[in-house]
Amino acid sequence: MKTVKNGTWPGVADEFLAILRCTQCRGSLRQDADGLTCLQCSHRVPVVGGLLRFVDAQQYAGSFGYQWLKHKHTQLDTEASRRSEADFIEKTGLTPDDLRGKLVLDVGCGMGRYADVVTKWRAHVVGIDLSRAVEAAAQNLAGREALVLQADVFSLPFAPESFDVIYSLGVLHHTPDCRLAFEKLPQLLKPGGKIAVWLYSAYNPWYRASDFYRVFTRRMKPEWLHRLCTLAVPIYHIHNFLRKIPILGRPASGALRLAFPMSFNPDPEWRVLDTFDWYSAYYQSKHTYEEVFRWFETCGLREIRGGQVPISVQGTRPGVPRPDSSSEEQAVERCAG
Ligand SMILES: C[S@@+](CC[C@H](N)C(=O)[O-])C[C@H]1O[C@@H](n2cnc3c(N)ncnc32)[C@H](O)[C@@H]1O
Repeated sequence: MKTVKNGTWPGVADEFLAILRCTQCRGSLRQDADGLTCLQCSHRVPVVGGLLRFVDAQQYAGSFGYQWLKHKHTQLDTEASRRSEADFIEKTGLTPDDLRGKLVLDVGCGMGRYADVVTKWRAHVVGIDLSRAVEAAAQNLAGREALVLQADVFSLPFAPESFDVIYSLGVLHHTPDCRLAFEKLPQLLKPGGKIAVWLYSAYNPWYRASDFYRVFTRRMKPEWLHRLCTLAVPIYHIHNFLRKIPILGRPASGALRLAFPMSFNPDPEWRVLDTFDWYSAYYQSKHTYEEVFRWFETCGLREIRGGQVPISVQGTRPGVPRPDSSSEEQAVERCAG
Protein backbone atom coordinates (compact mmCIF):
# COMPACT_ATOMS: atom_id res chain seq x y z
CA MET A 1 0.00 0.00 0.00
CA LYS A 2 1.65 3.26 -1.17
CA THR A 3 1.40 6.24 1.16
CA VAL A 4 2.76 9.77 1.29
CA LYS A 5 3.84 10.84 4.76
CA ASN A 6 3.01 14.40 5.72
CA GLY A 7 2.35 15.26 9.33
CA THR A 8 -0.95 13.61 10.24
CA TRP A 9 -1.94 12.88 6.62
CA PRO A 10 -0.93 9.35 5.72
CA GLY A 11 -1.74 9.80 2.00
CA VAL A 12 -4.24 7.83 -0.04
CA ALA A 13 -3.78 4.11 -0.66
CA ASP A 14 -3.53 3.16 -4.36
CA GLU A 15 -6.84 1.27 -4.17
CA PHE A 16 -8.65 4.49 -3.25
CA LEU A 17 -6.61 6.89 -5.41
CA ALA A 18 -7.58 4.87 -8.49
CA ILE A 19 -11.28 5.71 -8.06
CA LEU A 20 -10.94 9.37 -6.98
CA ARG A 21 -11.80 12.01 -9.59
CA CYS A 22 -11.68 15.79 -9.85
CA THR A 23 -15.07 17.36 -8.99
CA GLN A 24 -14.45 20.10 -11.60
CA CYS A 25 -13.54 18.11 -14.76
CA ARG A 26 -13.72 14.41 -13.71
CA GLY A 27 -9.96 14.03 -14.40
CA SER A 28 -7.72 11.62 -12.47
CA LEU A 29 -5.82 12.89 -9.45
CA ARG A 30 -2.17 12.74 -8.45
CA GLN A 31 -1.10 12.93 -4.81
CA ASP A 32 1.74 14.88 -3.32
CA ALA A 33 2.76 15.86 0.18
CA ASP A 34 -0.11 18.39 0.71
CA GLY A 35 -3.06 16.89 -1.11
CA LEU A 36 -4.24 15.98 -4.59
CA THR A 37 -3.92 17.74 -7.96
CA CYS A 38 -6.04 17.08 -11.03
CA LEU A 39 -3.92 15.80 -13.91
CA GLN A 40 -6.28 17.48 -16.41
CA CYS A 41 -7.23 20.90 -15.00
CA SER A 42 -4.72 21.26 -12.10
CA HIS A 43 -7.55 21.79 -9.57
CA ARG A 44 -6.21 21.25 -6.01
CA VAL A 45 -7.82 19.21 -3.27
CA PRO A 46 -6.17 20.34 -0.05
CA VAL A 47 -5.50 18.38 3.09
CA VAL A 48 -6.75 20.34 6.10
CA GLY A 49 -6.38 18.89 9.59
CA GLY A 50 -5.14 15.61 8.12
CA LEU A 51 -8.16 15.10 5.82
CA LEU A 52 -8.88 15.64 2.12
CA ARG A 53 -11.51 18.35 1.73
CA PHE A 54 -13.44 18.34 -1.56
CA VAL A 55 -15.65 21.14 -0.16
CA ASP A 56 -14.45 24.28 1.59
CA ALA A 57 -17.45 24.70 3.95
CA GLN A 58 -20.04 22.63 5.82
CA GLN A 59 -22.83 24.65 4.13
CA TYR A 60 -26.19 23.82 5.78
CA ALA A 61 -24.71 20.83 7.69
CA GLY A 62 -22.95 22.78 10.47
CA SER A 63 -25.24 21.37 13.18
CA PHE A 64 -24.13 17.86 12.20
CA GLY A 65 -20.48 18.89 12.50
CA TYR A 66 -21.24 20.11 16.03
CA GLN A 67 -23.29 17.00 16.88
CA TRP A 68 -20.77 14.39 15.77
CA LEU A 69 -17.75 16.13 17.27
CA LYS A 70 -19.62 16.36 20.60
CA HIS A 71 -20.97 12.79 20.42
CA LYS A 72 -18.10 11.17 18.58
CA HIS A 73 -18.28 7.95 20.62
CA THR A 74 -21.91 7.80 21.81
CA GLN A 75 -23.16 5.40 19.11
CA LEU A 76 -19.94 3.49 18.47
CA ASP A 77 -20.25 -0.22 19.18
CA THR A 78 -18.33 -1.63 22.13
CA GLU A 79 -17.67 -5.08 23.57
CA ALA A 80 -20.83 -4.64 25.62
CA SER A 81 -23.14 -3.22 22.94
CA ARG A 82 -23.52 -3.88 19.21
CA ARG A 83 -26.52 -1.68 18.59
CA SER A 84 -25.08 0.04 15.51
CA GLU A 85 -24.30 -3.35 13.95
CA ALA A 86 -27.85 -4.58 14.63
CA ASP A 87 -29.24 -1.30 13.26
CA PHE A 88 -27.09 -1.59 10.11
CA ILE A 89 -28.32 -5.15 9.40
CA GLU A 90 -31.95 -4.14 9.99
CA LYS A 91 -31.75 -1.09 7.73
CA THR A 92 -29.65 -2.52 4.87
CA GLY A 93 -30.32 -6.27 4.92
CA LEU A 94 -26.54 -6.65 4.31
CA THR A 95 -24.49 -9.25 6.18
CA PRO A 96 -20.74 -9.80 6.71
CA ASP A 97 -20.76 -12.27 3.78
CA ASP A 98 -22.09 -9.54 1.43
CA LEU A 99 -19.33 -7.12 2.37
CA ARG A 100 -16.17 -9.08 3.15
CA GLY A 101 -13.34 -7.80 0.91
CA LYS A 102 -15.72 -5.44 -0.97
CA LEU A 103 -15.18 -1.77 -1.80
CA VAL A 104 -17.99 0.12 -0.07
CA LEU A 105 -19.17 3.75 -0.07
CA ASP A 106 -20.75 5.16 3.12
CA VAL A 107 -22.65 8.30 2.05
CA GLY A 108 -23.01 10.73 4.97
CA CYS A 109 -20.86 8.69 7.34
CA GLY A 110 -21.27 11.05 10.33
CA MET A 111 -18.81 9.97 13.03
CA GLY A 112 -18.38 6.61 11.28
CA ARG A 113 -20.45 4.17 13.37
CA TYR A 114 -21.54 2.08 10.36
CA ALA A 115 -18.11 2.27 8.70
CA ASP A 116 -16.79 0.97 12.04
CA VAL A 117 -19.14 -2.02 11.73
CA VAL A 118 -18.35 -2.85 8.10
CA THR A 119 -14.57 -2.41 8.39
CA LYS A 120 -14.75 -4.96 11.24
CA TRP A 121 -16.50 -7.19 8.70
CA ARG A 122 -13.38 -6.71 6.50
CA ALA A 123 -14.93 -4.36 3.93
CA HIS A 124 -12.80 -1.52 2.50
CA VAL A 125 -14.74 1.67 3.08
CA VAL A 126 -14.79 5.19 1.71
CA GLY A 127 -16.79 7.46 4.04
CA ILE A 128 -17.88 10.88 2.86
CA ASP A 129 -19.70 13.62 4.74
CA LEU A 130 -20.42 17.29 4.08
CA SER A 131 -19.76 18.30 7.67
CA ARG A 132 -16.81 18.32 10.06
CA ALA A 133 -18.15 14.97 11.30
CA VAL A 134 -15.41 13.54 9.06
CA GLU A 135 -12.88 14.60 11.72
CA ALA A 136 -14.57 12.32 14.27
CA ALA A 137 -14.98 9.53 11.68
CA ALA A 138 -11.28 9.63 10.76
CA GLN A 139 -10.34 9.25 14.44
CA ASN A 140 -12.81 6.42 14.98
CA LEU A 141 -11.59 4.57 11.88
CA ALA A 142 -7.85 5.09 12.36
CA GLY A 143 -5.89 1.98 11.38
CA ARG A 144 -8.78 0.45 9.37
CA GLU A 145 -9.11 -0.14 5.61
CA ALA A 146 -10.92 3.18 5.30
CA LEU A 147 -10.65 6.56 3.60
CA VAL A 148 -12.66 9.48 5.02
CA LEU A 149 -13.31 12.56 2.89
CA GLN A 150 -15.23 15.79 3.37
CA ALA A 151 -17.38 15.90 0.24
CA ASP A 152 -20.90 16.66 -0.98
CA VAL A 153 -23.26 13.95 -2.22
CA PHE A 154 -24.28 16.30 -5.06
CA SER A 155 -20.69 16.48 -6.33
CA LEU A 156 -19.01 13.19 -5.49
CA PRO A 157 -15.32 12.75 -6.38
CA PHE A 158 -15.49 9.21 -7.76
CA ALA A 159 -15.22 7.48 -11.13
CA PRO A 160 -18.39 5.71 -12.39
CA GLU A 161 -18.71 2.02 -11.47
CA SER A 162 -16.27 2.24 -8.56
CA PHE A 163 -18.10 0.50 -5.70
CA ASP A 164 -19.40 -2.99 -4.97
CA VAL A 165 -21.82 -1.66 -2.35
CA ILE A 166 -23.20 1.78 -1.46
CA TYR A 167 -25.23 2.56 1.65
CA SER A 168 -26.63 5.79 3.01
CA LEU A 169 -28.49 5.64 6.31
CA GLY A 170 -30.34 8.66 7.65
CA VAL A 171 -28.67 11.12 5.29
CA LEU A 172 -30.40 11.86 1.98
CA HIS A 173 -33.54 13.26 3.70
CA HIS A 174 -31.23 15.89 5.26
CA THR A 175 -30.29 17.35 1.85
CA PRO A 176 -32.24 20.04 -0.04
CA ASP A 177 -33.39 17.45 -2.63
CA CYS A 178 -33.55 13.84 -1.42
CA ARG A 179 -34.44 12.32 -4.79
CA LEU A 180 -31.69 14.18 -6.65
CA ALA A 181 -29.16 13.14 -3.99
CA PHE A 182 -30.24 9.50 -4.42
CA GLU A 183 -29.92 9.73 -8.21
CA LYS A 184 -26.22 10.59 -7.87
CA LEU A 185 -25.45 7.15 -6.44
CA PRO A 186 -26.40 4.24 -8.79
CA GLN A 187 -23.88 5.33 -11.46
CA LEU A 188 -21.10 4.75 -8.89
CA LEU A 189 -22.03 1.07 -8.49
CA LYS A 190 -20.23 -1.63 -10.42
CA PRO A 191 -22.60 -3.79 -12.50
CA GLY A 192 -24.12 -6.25 -10.04
CA GLY A 193 -23.40 -3.87 -7.13
CA LYS A 194 -25.92 -3.30 -4.32
CA ILE A 195 -27.32 -0.07 -2.86
CA ALA A 196 -29.25 0.39 0.40
CA VAL A 197 -30.80 3.55 1.81
CA TRP A 198 -32.80 4.37 4.91
CA LEU A 199 -35.00 7.48 4.97
CA TYR A 200 -37.50 9.00 7.39
CA SER A 201 -41.00 7.64 6.98
CA ALA A 202 -43.92 9.83 5.92
CA TYR A 203 -46.30 7.38 7.63
CA ASN A 204 -45.43 8.39 11.21
CA PRO A 205 -47.77 11.02 12.81
CA TRP A 206 -45.21 11.70 15.62
CA TYR A 207 -42.96 13.18 12.96
CA ARG A 208 -45.59 15.66 11.80
CA ALA A 209 -46.24 16.93 15.35
CA SER A 210 -42.61 17.92 15.79
CA ASP A 211 -42.54 19.93 12.55
CA PHE A 212 -44.05 22.88 14.41
CA TYR A 213 -41.09 23.11 16.84
CA ARG A 214 -38.56 22.54 14.06
CA VAL A 215 -39.51 25.82 12.42
CA PHE A 216 -37.66 27.47 15.33
CA THR A 217 -35.16 24.87 16.48
CA ARG A 218 -33.42 24.33 13.14
CA ARG A 219 -32.37 27.98 13.24
CA MET A 220 -31.07 27.88 16.84
CA LYS A 221 -27.39 27.93 17.71
CA PRO A 222 -26.34 24.27 18.10
CA GLU A 223 -24.87 24.93 21.57
CA TRP A 224 -28.20 26.34 22.87
CA LEU A 225 -30.32 23.65 21.29
CA HIS A 226 -28.06 20.96 22.71
CA ARG A 227 -28.49 22.46 26.20
CA LEU A 228 -32.27 22.48 25.70
CA CYS A 229 -32.23 18.81 24.64
CA THR A 230 -30.19 17.95 27.73
CA LEU A 231 -32.79 19.72 29.90
CA ALA A 232 -35.57 17.74 28.18
CA VAL A 233 -34.09 14.40 29.30
CA PRO A 234 -36.22 14.22 32.52
CA ILE A 235 -39.43 14.25 30.43
CA TYR A 236 -38.60 10.61 29.73
CA HIS A 237 -38.82 9.81 33.46
CA ILE A 238 -42.13 11.70 33.81
CA HIS A 239 -43.41 9.66 30.87
CA ASN A 240 -42.35 6.38 32.50
CA PHE A 241 -43.88 7.43 35.81
CA LEU A 242 -47.21 8.32 34.14
CA ARG A 243 -47.39 4.94 32.41
CA LYS A 244 -47.47 3.22 35.81
CA ILE A 245 -50.62 5.11 36.91
CA PRO A 246 -53.77 2.99 36.32
CA ILE A 247 -56.40 4.05 33.73
CA LEU A 248 -55.42 7.69 33.04
CA GLY A 249 -51.64 7.18 33.10
CA ARG A 250 -51.23 5.81 29.58
CA PRO A 251 -53.36 8.45 27.79
CA ALA A 252 -51.54 11.14 29.81
CA SER A 253 -48.13 9.81 28.78
CA GLY A 254 -49.33 9.60 25.15
CA ALA A 255 -50.45 13.22 25.29
CA LEU A 256 -47.08 14.23 26.76
CA ARG A 257 -45.34 12.39 23.95
CA LEU A 258 -47.37 14.26 21.35
CA ALA A 259 -46.93 17.65 23.03
CA PHE A 260 -43.15 17.23 23.47
CA PRO A 261 -41.98 14.81 20.78
CA MET A 262 -38.46 13.61 21.66
CA SER A 263 -36.38 10.46 21.68
CA PHE A 264 -37.44 7.91 24.28
CA ASN A 265 -34.26 5.91 24.01
CA PRO A 266 -33.51 4.35 27.43
CA ASP A 267 -29.87 5.47 27.21
CA PRO A 268 -29.78 9.16 28.31
CA GLU A 269 -26.84 10.06 26.04
CA TRP A 270 -28.51 8.52 22.99
CA ARG A 271 -31.72 10.33 24.00
CA VAL A 272 -30.02 13.73 23.95
CA LEU A 273 -28.20 12.93 20.70
CA ASP A 274 -31.28 11.61 18.88
CA THR A 275 -33.44 14.53 20.05
CA PHE A 276 -30.78 17.06 19.00
CA ASP A 277 -30.37 15.31 15.64
CA TRP A 278 -34.11 15.51 15.02
CA TYR A 279 -34.58 19.17 15.90
CA SER A 280 -31.31 20.65 14.62
CA ALA A 281 -31.14 19.42 11.01
CA TYR A 282 -31.76 22.28 8.60
CA TYR A 283 -33.39 20.02 5.98
CA GLN A 284 -35.61 17.09 6.83
CA SER A 285 -37.94 15.34 4.38
CA LYS A 286 -40.13 12.26 4.84
CA HIS A 287 -40.86 9.58 2.27
CA THR A 288 -43.09 6.65 1.38
CA TYR A 289 -42.15 3.19 0.09
CA GLU A 290 -44.05 3.95 -3.13
CA GLU A 291 -41.95 6.98 -4.02
CA VAL A 292 -38.59 5.44 -3.04
CA PHE A 293 -39.34 2.24 -5.00
CA ARG A 294 -40.12 4.50 -7.99
CA TRP A 295 -36.71 6.25 -7.64
CA PHE A 296 -34.97 2.87 -7.63
CA GLU A 297 -36.94 1.71 -10.69
CA THR A 298 -36.32 4.95 -12.61
CA CYS A 299 -32.58 4.51 -12.02
CA GLY A 300 -32.75 1.05 -13.59
CA LEU A 301 -32.08 -0.84 -10.34
CA ARG A 302 -33.34 -4.43 -10.01
CA GLU A 303 -34.23 -6.83 -7.16
CA ILE A 304 -35.75 -3.90 -5.25
CA ARG A 305 -36.80 -4.83 -1.71
CA GLY A 306 -38.18 -3.03 1.30
CA GLY A 307 -36.31 -3.67 4.55
CA GLN A 308 -37.53 -4.29 8.10
CA VAL A 309 -37.50 -0.65 9.18
CA PRO A 310 -39.53 2.00 7.29
CA ILE A 311 -38.32 3.42 4.93
CA SER A 312 -35.42 1.13 4.08
CA VAL A 313 -34.98 0.03 0.47
CA GLN A 314 -32.30 -2.04 -1.26
CA GLY A 315 -31.62 -2.67 -4.95
CA THR A 316 -29.02 -4.08 -7.35
CA ARG A 317 -27.48 -2.54 -10.44
CA PRO A 318 -28.00 -4.94 -13.33
CA GLY A 319 -24.80 -6.75 -14.20
CA VAL A 320 -24.91 -6.60 -17.99
CA PRO A 321 -21.56 -6.64 -19.81
CA ARG A 322 -20.77 -3.73 -22.14
CA PRO A 323 -21.17 -2.74 -24.95
CA ASP A 324 -24.65 -4.39 -25.23
CA SER A 325 -26.03 -2.37 -22.33
CA SER A 326 -29.66 -3.15 -21.51
CA SER A 327 -32.43 -0.59 -20.97
CA GLU A 328 -31.89 -0.86 -17.18
CA GLU A 329 -28.21 -0.13 -17.65
CA GLN A 330 -29.08 2.92 -19.78
CA ALA A 331 -31.50 4.10 -17.05
CA VAL A 332 -28.64 4.07 -14.52
CA GLU A 333 -26.65 6.25 -16.92
CA ARG A 334 -29.59 8.63 -17.46
CA CYS A 335 -29.87 8.98 -13.65
CA ALA A 336 -26.20 9.93 -13.59
CA GLY A 337 -26.94 12.96 -15.75
C1 LIG B 1 -28.27 12.06 10.80
S1 LIG B 1 -26.61 12.12 10.26
C2 LIG B 1 -26.35 10.39 9.89
C3 LIG B 1 -24.90 9.99 10.00
C4 LIG B 1 -24.64 8.48 9.86
N1 LIG B 1 -25.12 7.95 8.61
C5 LIG B 1 -25.26 7.76 11.04
O1 LIG B 1 -26.39 7.30 10.89
O2 LIG B 1 -24.65 7.72 12.09
C6 LIG B 1 -26.75 12.83 8.63
C7 LIG B 1 -25.39 13.12 8.00
O3 LIG B 1 -25.59 13.52 6.63
C8 LIG B 1 -24.59 14.47 6.33
N2 LIG B 1 -25.00 15.21 5.13
C9 LIG B 1 -26.02 16.08 4.99
N3 LIG B 1 -26.03 16.60 3.74
C10 LIG B 1 -25.00 16.03 3.07
C11 LIG B 1 -24.48 16.17 1.75
N4 LIG B 1 -25.03 17.01 0.86
N5 LIG B 1 -23.40 15.45 1.41
C12 LIG B 1 -22.82 14.59 2.31
N6 LIG B 1 -23.27 14.42 3.57
C13 LIG B 1 -24.33 15.15 3.95
C14 LIG B 1 -24.53 15.32 7.59
O4 LIG B 1 -23.37 16.09 7.69
C15 LIG B 1 -24.66 14.26 8.68
O5 LIG B 1 -23.42 13.82 9.19
